[in-house]
Amino acid sequence: MNSLLTNIIVTGSANELKENGTLRHVEEKSMEEVAGQGYPFEVIQESANYLLSGTRHRPKIGIICGSGLGGLADQLSERDAFPYETIPNFPTSTVAGHAGRMVIGLLSGVPVMCMQGRFHAYEGYPLWKCAMPVRVMKLMGVERIVITNAAGGLNPEFKVGDIMIIKDHINMQGFAGDSPLRGRNDERFGPRFPAMNNAYDANLRSMAKNIAEEMNLSHVIREGVYVMLGGPTYETVAELNLLRIVGVDAVGMSTVPEVVVARHCGLKVFAFSLITNKCITQYDTEQEANHEEVIEVANIRKKDLQNLARRIIVTMSQELESSKK
Ligand code: HPA
Repeated sequence: MNSLLTNIIVTGSANELKENGTLRHVEEKSMEEVAGQGYPFEVIQESANYLLSGTRHRPKIGIICGSGLGGLADQLSERDAFPYETIPNFPTSTVAGHAGRMVIGLLSGVPVMCMQGRFHAYEGYPLWKCAMPVRVMKLMGVERIVITNAAGGLNPEFKVGDIMIIKDHINMQGFAGDSPLRGRNDERFGPRFPAMNNAYDANLRSMAKNIAEEMNLSHVIREGVYVMLGGPTYETVAELNLLRIVGVDAVGMSTVPEVVVARHCGLKVFAFSLITNKCITQYDTEQEANHEEVIEVANIRKKDLQNLARRIIVTMSQELESSKK
């Protein structure tokens, strides 16, 4: 990087650089962003303190709502809502249909904090920024996190409308050398080399399956391996066939950075995917994956998803309480 540019980016003191008499736009970036190391602890603490001072709730459970689950946040009672642009140091969401606010309130009497809209790598955010709200949750006292997404069903047995409990993931970005934890490690969040073999808590998964059975939803419940790709393109046929060979059941564009950061800071994770479309693994078809289909299926299943999430959260909260006695 040439030194003049470094200077301007690091100080953030100018957003235009005069070069050979022509003005060129230069993005303002902090030192930490340039280094790709994420925000320091104190910056995350500032966001957490802001939210804590704006609500009387003290949630132990965090929720990240993917497509179709955003309505859960609207069901919270006694809620305090914080549009992302009002929270210090928070990124802002750019996707249509994602409201972009943190809602803190009571879900069936359980205090929760709920991200209505999340940050995706394809929007241009580095992975650490996609997952930064998870650290804010941690510093606010959250101990469990429920993460949801919309995904394409790659397992040929999966149907549109199925709900896949995530058992494991394949971190493609990690394979390629990118991670939300890349850069300097702050031990106040977690260890340099966190384990990922129990990323998706086995007890929470089995509890969710029991609840789904009680709700007569067993016929739509699946369990499997999720992969996150960078998007925003949907996958080619060859890419999907490759992913199937390595054991992927569902394909999406989110969740993995948040899970990695949650596990790093010791949160227990429960995650599920709504299968909004079947991945197309044949060449001889006119069908194409599209965003409208994803939203349509999400809308059809949203009541079931919200009820399932609600019951899971209530049980999670009871378990948290009894583990403290
Ligand atoms: N691929 C990737 N992401 C997705 C898909 C898909 O088929 N469906 C919903 N999100």
